[in-house]
Amino acid sequence: MYTNLVCKFCLYIWWSVSGDFVNSYMNMYLNSDEVQKLLGLDMELYYVTNGKINDFALNFVVPVPPKVDALHFTWESLSGRPLPYTINVDISNPLALGTPKLNISDTGMIPTITQIFSVSLPCSGVVVAEVNIVLTVNITSPNSNVTSLTFRRKKICRKIESLSNTHVLVDNISYNSNSVNIFYIAVGCAGFLIATLAFCVVVSYVKGKKDRRDPSDNQAHMTYVTNAARNPNSTSSYGSFRRMPSYSLIDERSKDLQERIAELTIQRCRVRLNSVILEGTFGRVYLGSYSEENGAEEEVLVKTVTDHASQIQISLLLQEGMFMYSLNHKNILTILGVSIEDQTAPFLLYPYHSYKNLKVFLQKCKLNSEGVAHTLTTQEVVDMALQIIQAMQYLHKKHLWHKDLAARNCVVDDKLKIKVTDNALSRDLFPSDYHCLGDNENRPIKWMAIESLLQKGFSPCSDVWSFGVLLWELTTLAQQPYVEIDPFEMAAYLKDGYRLAQPINCPDELFAVMAYCWAMNPEERPTFTQLQVCLQEFYAQLIRYV
Ligand SMILES: *[C@@H]1O[C@H](CO)[C@@H](O)[C@H](O)[C@H]1NC(C)=O
Ligand SMILES: *[C@@H]1O[C@H](CO)[C@@H](O)[C@H](O)[C@H]1NC(C)=O
Ligand SMILES: *[C@@H]1O[C@H](CO)[C@@H](O)[C@H](O)[C@H]1NC(C)=O
Ligand SMILES: *[C@@H]1O[C@H](CO)[C@@H](O)[C@H](O)[C@H]1NC(C)=O
Repeated sequence: MYTNLVCKFCLYIWWSVSGDFVNSYMNMYLNSDEVQKLLGLDMELYYVTNGKINDFALNFVVPVPPKVDALHFTWESLSGRPLPYTINVDISNPLALGTPKLNISDTGMIPTITQIFSVSLPCSGVVVAEVNIVLTVNITSPNSNVTSLTFRRKKICRKIESLSNTHVLVDNISYNSNSVNIFYIAVGCAGFLIATLAFCVVVSYVKGKKDRRDPSDNQAHMTYVTNAARNPNSTSSYGSFRRMPSYSLIDERSKDLQERIAELTIQRCRVRLNSVILEGTFGRVYLGSYSEENGAEEEVLVKTVTDHASQIQISLLLQEGMFMYSLNHKNILTILGVSIEDQTAPFLLYPYHSYKNLKVFLQKCKLNSEGVAHTLTTQEVVDMALQIIQAMQYLHKKHLWHKDLAARNCVVDDKLKIKVTDNALSRDLFPSDYHCLGDNENRPIKWMAIESLLQKGFSPCSDVWSFGVLLWELTTLAQQPYVEIDPFEMAAYLKDGYRLAQPINCPDELFAVMAYCWAMNPEERPTFTQLQVCLQEFYAQLIRYV
């Protein structure tokens, strides 16, 4: 079953052409206006290109939003003469939807010039329903074989007061709760766009942030606090203990946290702050050095806050900064030490090897693009993505969900080696990436999976969603995702099936991977293992052509 999943996933992406016509003699597709209307994307969707049939595209049921009341198809004969066709439309619920009307005849010829034909979908307005529409087209090829193409749509019809008013601006609509039919799209390597329909069975996952204080969640969170397989060198370097602080917010739930802090505590006097690398309203990241007892010095990153940070902010810094405690993986930035002295802000120490924040790094790539600055190749992007995948596989193996995977929470060195970090201070350092939706929680709304937005539930699948957004950041050099969407609208926007568009210059294969991460149904998303298989394959292809 597992291998099947992998294969299925890869097939979606590197789908193989099947059902060839004998000659390449027709095209049939949805033009970009139509794709924009149905899928919110600026691209064409080919069902038949030069006679080759895209079965994957044909197999997917495309939902038709309430406000779209006609379908448009584009076709042309490439054989040098018109091709005979017959066409038929079936609907599942005549009460909800009147008879669809075509503006071409049922039997006719596909012209040698590009022709658009439309199929009207007049909702009766009498009942609310999802109506299945099956459009069958039989085409007789020049060698007299008949090819039958079947297109499936699911039209959402609303009940309306006034029948003339078919263009009500909807979205208030009950996209009926049990079977919310939304879709996501993926693009195949031949430039074909594949749409699939995900039934939204929202899974109630691990408790959300709200329940963080719940002891069971605590446990899930902290099971790995057994005795740290820490790097022996760093253990000896940072072994000196300091007494516990008296921050009031480090309350009963944080026994574990206190133990961890105790284990990592180092003496403040051994830390020297050199230069500020990142700066927020109260958060600071410094480049500094730590001198060991034997006099050796080591460069470190120091996360800290200024004196006017509140107790809550300090407590959050400690909690979030301890997230990567005791982890040991080449693609994870593990905390090395903590220094807490009464009445001063804590210092969190991380190893430093000329790391830059990934988001800042990507944005710099863009700024300098007219000069000699480094621009990323697809190969480099895929390599970086693979490193992140490895980090995430490791985290998930430890039963840790990152919950805030994004470019801002990664660092990169000169050789493009990536490490995933915790999100301590990110809210302050990257304020435009976080939003409050009426509650007091400042959350990375635009990186969050639909179920995390709606139910505050997190899971490995929601990390996969965020990974998709991170991949999008890599290919756009850290543009802001959904920049035009109000954070309050995000959940509705995603529910309506909209997703981030394919970035300019982003290969279809990579975009397909992202789109797959944004499946409505968490279980339809690939796992990190599947992502790894697919990206490795893509990477191998890239190398082959270099
Ligand atoms: C297309 O052909 C199939 C058989 O090949 C037939 O059952 C179907 O009715 C035909 N449809 C149209 C619209 O002619
Ligand atoms: C069918 O209608 C669409 C617009 O709804 C139009 O663009 C197209 O040209 C029409 N096709 C024919 C064959 O009349
Ligand atoms: C027509 O299609 C059949 C399979 O459906 C195939 O075996 C046959 O070779 C085709 N005929 C021609 C002339 O291509
Ligand atoms: C939207 O929902 C509100 C309350 O849920 C309702 O009062 C209103 O009539 C609805 N609007 C439409 C267009 O359905």
